[in-house]
Amino acid sequence: MISADKKMDLLMSLCKRRGFVYPDSDIYGGFANAWDYGPYGVELKNNIRDAWWKRFVHAREDVVGVDTPIIQHPKVWEASGHLATFSDPLVEDKKTHKRYRLDHLLEEAGINVSGMPFDAMKAEMIAHKLKSPDGNELAEPKQFNLMFKTFVGVSDDTASTAYLRPETAAGMFTAWKDVRDTMRKKVPFGIAQVGRAFRNEITPGNFIFRTREFEQMEIEYFVKPDKSAEAFEMWLAEMKSWVNDVLELDASHVVYKEISEADRAFYSKRTIDVEYHYPFGQKELYGLANRADYDLSRHQEFSGEDLRWFDAESGERYIPHVVEPTWGLSRTVLAVLCEHLDIDEADTTEEGEKEPRMVLRLPPCLAPVKAAVLPLQKKDGLSELGRELAQKIRAAGIVVEYDESGSIGKRYRRQDEIGTPWCFTLDYTSKEDGTVTVRDRDAMTQERVAMKDIVGWIQSKLA
Ligand code: GAP
Repeated sequence: MISADKKMDLLMSLCKRRGFVYPDSDIYGGFANAWDYGPYGVELKNNIRDAWWKRFVHAREDVVGVDTPIIQHPKVWEASGHLATFSDPLVEDKKTHKRYRLDHLLEEAGINVSGMPFDAMKAEMIAHKLKSPDGNELAEPKQFNLMFKTFVGVSDDTASTAYLRPETAAGMFTAWKDVRDTMRKKVPFGIAQVGRAFRNEITPGNFIFRTREFEQMEIEYFVKPDKSAEAFEMWLAEMKSWVNDVLELDASHVVYKEISEADRAFYSKRTIDVEYHYPFGQKELYGLANRADYDLSRHQEFSGEDLRWFDAESGERYIPHVVEPTWGLSRTVLAVLCEHLDIDEADTTEEGEKEPRMVLRLPPCLAPVKAAVLPLQKKDGLSELGRELAQKIRAAGIVVEYDESGSIGKRYRRQDEIGTPWCFTLDYTSKEDGTVTVRDRDAMTQERVAMKDIVGWIQSKLA
């Protein structure tokens, strides 16, 4: 077991050392709160994304996918309400000019800001003579819009202002009419999207937990108005199953928090935040909201297009209600790494002495590398035999590494640290009877398997 206060340091150093996540623009001294996914990090992220798409799009008859632009028509953000309301209360230390979220400072001072409007927060700040964390006076707070502005066009003066999307959801609402008219789906059905979103966060931090550029996986599920409560329960069960069965997060580390009416967006009929026990505290991982008819009604009003659904059986026309399950992809990577990082003991030397080993016990379907082929010796044809086996595994579409340098203990340790579930070791017996040893990452048990059966053996474990 690793203590919570040590876990983030261990994880961040492992991520850099083993090629999961590097500081962005490292050669320029890094760029605050921006991160590069390294070779193993991008594999892990893509595996999560692909498992999600397979489960929620390919395996379902009632969900289809889209991929819409990061920069959309600026009117989208007027209609969605983001231009007017997508802001956080910002306050500045008069002396250091450091910026803070006023709601966070009030909470730290023990003031409950649940459902509190901006003006009331301002009043609380004055009444409590709130100071900055450095003990200095605070300037007048203001509402800070989190959307990144940009310009579309050939020069700044003629160009029109546009925005980087702060969530992928809007693209599904603007695509609703075309999907409705072309896909021969019947309500209830959903539209899914995976992509980047951008928010000029006042206080990014905690590694990849809160960044200004991140990825989301979202579904907008369109239902008959009187069916939204039922659809909400269905998606809640789906989210729980994803968390338990795919990510394998321990149930005691996840909290499904019902958000009170005072804390919900005004249009939301029900919201549940899915929170995870990160080493730095219990914080949001995902969200589930019943957005009623807010989005389609607003886009209908602003676009002038008829966005209603026509029910051919009953002859009714109505604006569908929307249930929105939303998953942060970058945050999932962090939760999965935190959950499965462990330290135990292993025999590392030839004499069988024990020493601590760091291991990522990732679910095999998410592991960046599924198998490693490790010959005990480079000589006597073991190297050639090992390369041949690795190539056979690779040709079957399974990510495999071949590694012949260094002691076998060190090679196992490296694979343990990147979460490779199975190591195949070749020895002299392999040459005689065509078998290799399979070492299981978690149990550290060894068994012999025929080389000719290995591809099928791995595929059966991943199924
Ligand atoms: N369409 C609804 C929506 O965007 P949200 O709660 O603002 O709702 C959804 O965001 C998810 O996106 C969050 O639950 C979280 O996983 C992720 N997310 C939001 N802001 C983020 C940030 N700054 N960095 C990383 N992930 C973020």
